Amino acid sequence: MSHTTMTYPLGDRNVNRLGYGAMQLAGPGVFGPVKDEARAIQVLRDAVAAGVNHIDTSDFYGPHETNQLINKALHPYPQDLCIVTKVGARRDAKGGWLPAMEPDALTQAVEDNLRHLGLDVIEVVNLRSMFQVFAPQEGSLEPQLAALLELRARGLIRHIGLSNVTPKQVADAQAMTPIVCVQNMYNLANRQDDALIDQLAEQQIAYVPFFPLGGFSPLQSTQLNEVAAALNATPMQVALAWLLRRSPNILLIPGTSSPAHLQENLASAQLTLSDEIMAKLNGI
Ligand SMILES: NC(=O)c1ccc[n+]([C@@H]2O[C@H](COP(=O)([O-])OP(=O)(O)OC[C@H]3O[C@@H](n4cnc5c(N)ncnc54)[C@H](OP(=O)(O)O)[C@@H]3O)[C@@H](O)[C@H]2O)c1
Repeated sequence: MSHTTMTYPLGDRNVNRLGYGAMQLAGPGVFGPVKDEARAIQVLRDAVAAGVNHIDTSDFYGPHETNQLINKALHPYPQDLCIVTKVGARRDAKGGWLPAMEPDALTQAVEDNLRHLGLDVIEVVNLRSMFQVFAPQEGSLEPQLAALLELRARGLIRHIGLSNVTPKQVADAQAMTPIVCVQNMYNLANRQDDALIDQLAEQQIAYVPFFPLGGFSPLQSTQLNEVAAALNATPMQVALAWLLRRSPNILLIPGTSSPAHLQENLASAQLTLSDEIMAKLNGI
């Protein structure tokens, strides 16, 4: 067993640090119906059976398809399952990603998530900034957070998180309300958030990297391959084990549509990376 602790607080729950990201279950380009419904249902059920109690999703995956699939595969949900969704974007007719950050659009998105997931209340809703699609950009999120606070007051949301945001946006949001997690792009090869991760760790707030394996084109690196071969592991397992050791507040949500990849990813919790190996990986 690895020496990293395997649970961490997310809001007022403790979740397994190895969670699951559902984005890969929709059709090509995260658009349209699931590629193979039976296989996707198996991945979701296998994840929960293996102890995953943190699933990341959004109603803009598909759109709607991924949430409906989670509902079909897992409802009635285990009591300890923490489903986290995100709002702030919508899809156009061709699958393009557009901002949907107006307060009314956020309210509609939360209601759609509740309906498609079959929930009365969502454990965590991440406000996903869409000022830019794949990089944080400064700008006030105050009207958006005010809309989510209203939804929380109505009992539709339990906790609020942020996604694709800058450290200033995190601090500004924290002046309005507790923020339980931050979900930004981060992995072995994309380390812009190093300082933010450490700041959040000091506050015991979860940091949830998206694209932990590199995203649509998984990480490729000679050093990573060498370390993996030496440990009798796969490069993807080493990339996840590196994140687990990088900071205790990192929660993983690797995405996969493959039952075999799911098991491989979950097994990364068993990998222990020495200080020497961490130093080598930090050089990538
Ligand atoms: N907040 C945001 O803006 C945002 C953006 C993107 C993603 N997300 C969330 O973050 C989660 C993770 O991101 P992601 O799924 O896009 O990227 P990822 O986890 O970095 O990588 C997923 C890709 O890696 C492949 N893969 C997974 N496990 C593998 C393994 N063991 N060996 C080889 N290939 C493997 C998957 O293909 P297979 O299906 O073939 O395994 C898929 O192509 C998403 O599911 C989503 O919930 C959030």
